[in-house]
Amino acid sequence: MSRTSPMHSTERRVRVKSYAKVNLDLRVLWRRSDGFHELRSLFHTISLADDMEMRWRSGDSLSVVTACPAIPLVMEDNLAHRAALRYADAVGLRGSLLISVQKRIPMGGGLGGGSSNAAAVLLALPALTGTHLPGAPLLELAESLGSDVPFFLQGGAAVGIGRGEELFPLPDFPPLYGLLVAPGIAVPTPAAYKALRRPALPLPAENHAFATLKREFSAQLLTPPDLATQWNGSGLGRNDFESVVFADHPELARWKSRLLEAGASHAMMSGSGSTVFGLFPSRDSALMGQSRLGSDAVHAFQLVPRSRYHRDWLRRLGLHTQTALWPPQPPQ
Ligand code: C5P
Repeated sequence: MSRTSPMHSTERRVRVKSYAKVNLDLRVLWRRSDGFHELRSLFHTISLADDMEMRWRSGDSLSVVTACPAIPLVMEDNLAHRAALRYADAVGLRGSLLISVQKRIPMGGGLGGGSSNAAAVLLALPALTGTHLPGAPLLELAESLGSDVPFFLQGGAAVGIGRGEELFPLPDFPPLYGLLVAPGIAVPTPAAYKALRRPALPLPAENHAFATLKREFSAQLLTPPDLATQWNGSGLGRNDFESVVFADHPELARWKSRLLEAGASHAMMSGSGSTVFGLFPSRDSALMGQSRLGSDAVHAFQLVPRSRYHRDWLRRLGLHTQTALWPPQPPQ
């Protein structure tokens, strides 16, 4: 971040990476009375990322402009733009903010690109503008933007329950290599949930199922080396959306098989699709798989553990010594 002067009229600038996620496991349980579905998922950040730049200059009134070259964008619908407006409202910001997003994460692909961009704005604005929103209202703001946004405030590996916004961070596990296939099919998330035809049940007052699930996930994930080679025996790696999305797009099921044939120890769809990814036992086997598949739609990635996610954010925000602003503290 350039901080040429402490004067507020000086422009400040920050360049950040807005990482994508994959769901390493995703189960949709039931439809809740608030219209959302109760889910259990294992999220993980990956190295595929959008580049974002934010420029800020303080002033008498608020103006926010969001630019996303190469992609037609209705600014008001953009989650990063909405995140900036809501953050500004919450802390009473006055000034001009320019957000530019260089997209690399496929849109509508189940990789959380829009949510990640929104979280990136929430993470960067405190440092950029010298303002602060405490953990609880920040989380509430993130949740109001979208179910996946809170996850990107911390990154790494986490079990998500509820709408996916109730998060339980897991210890880092090795930064496994993978390949993902983004075949250019956009799956609308609400329609994918609807197609699952889950029974309607009331909102749970308390999530009793969680204790068991977390124990199950943690026990499996605490032996991470197995994940690279023995994934199929681990009980993880299921995505409930595959049945309904593969029925409409059989080419996605074929990509899953092709990833396995190319050497993936496990392959599955992320989120409500359409991205299909595979994890490989090593970097070399992933790169060999990539050349075997020989398609522009195939991208190599690495899992990004929380420690690396945090380091990257602190470095890019120039907060090497100042950790009071970030990471956001969970509510007490
Ligand atoms: O929270 P988000 O904006 O990502 O959700 C988009 C849509 O996906 C919701 O309006 C809802 O139809 C569906 N959804 C759901 N259950 C969830 C998350 C999303 O039904 N847990």
